[in-house]
Amino acid sequence: MTARILAGKDFAAQIKEEAKKQAEAIKEQYGVTPGLAVVIVGSDPASQVYVRNKHKACEALGIYSEVIVLPEDTTKEALLAQIDALNSSRKIHGILVQLPLPAALGSAEAEILDRIDPKKDVDGFHPVNVGRLVTGQPALVPCTPAGCIRMLELAAIPMDGAHAVIIGRSNIVGKPMMNLLLQKNATVTVCHSHTKNLAEITRTADILVAAVGRPRFVTADMVKPGAAVIDVGINRIAPKQLVGDVDFTAVQEVAGAITPVPGGVGLLTIAMLMQNTITAALMQLA
Ligand code: GUN
Repeated sequence: MTARILAGKDFAAQIKEEAKKQAEAIKEQYGVTPGLAVVIVGSDPASQVYVRNKHKACEALGIYSEVIVLPEDTTKEALLAQIDALNSSRKIHGILVQLPLPAALGSAEAEILDRIDPKKDVDGFHPVNVGRLVTGQPALVPCTPAGCIRMLELAAIPMDGAHAVIIGRSNIVGKPMMNLLLQKNATVTVCHSHTKNLAEITRTADILVAAVGRPRFVTADMVKPGAAVIDVGINRIAPKQLVGDVDFTAVQEVAGAITPVPGGVGLLTIAMLMQNTITAALMQLA
């Protein structure tokens, strides 16, 4: 069997098209342009690329975009003051502080992210949104796992009653993915670095989500024939070579569906950020 390839660009285009229509409807109904502010501290090259892509996506969809670049030596107090200003700005409906922060601010990360108004928290990292997600209340949900769920929906891969196995328990991917899959009535197993007999567990997965951050970690013998394999990893193994957490070449011969890297779920993350900005604007305007 050769797997169906789930190309991120097709799904992302669909989500962006919906977001564009919603942005137009908001302008019509409320006379307001949805606005996203991205704050970047320092000059991490990968972060600069991400931030540029977010800005371009906003422009393409008619979303107002503000990119705030702060110097590497920005103090915690200055960053908190910037967040306060964005919290009270009427032009801004979504705020994202690009991670990772410079090392000097790293220990204050939780305090910084918690300062964002939960209604503007388009990353879905604020404890209020985490709690709302866990308890099944309307929430802003982290973009990458939300994108994975949208992709499974759009690809008509059944989640209800499926056994979903997630490898990785991060706050950004693994844990929110677990909660989103539970909401879809999947039976969810979360595996991590201390899990025993990992391959035995992953071989029972109808949906296998890899979010470990280790290049080509998931091998063909770990995959049930016909499973849907979602690869959230982005690992740079050479200056110009990105690979996922899944050994794509081997696993595509076993899986029923698989996301490539690059060109897979990464493209949905930005699309979902646009969607979250619209949702945030609606929450604030309605
Ligand atoms: N850096 C890499 N991915 C992300 C993300 O999803 N959100 C934020 N804020 N920073 C990131």
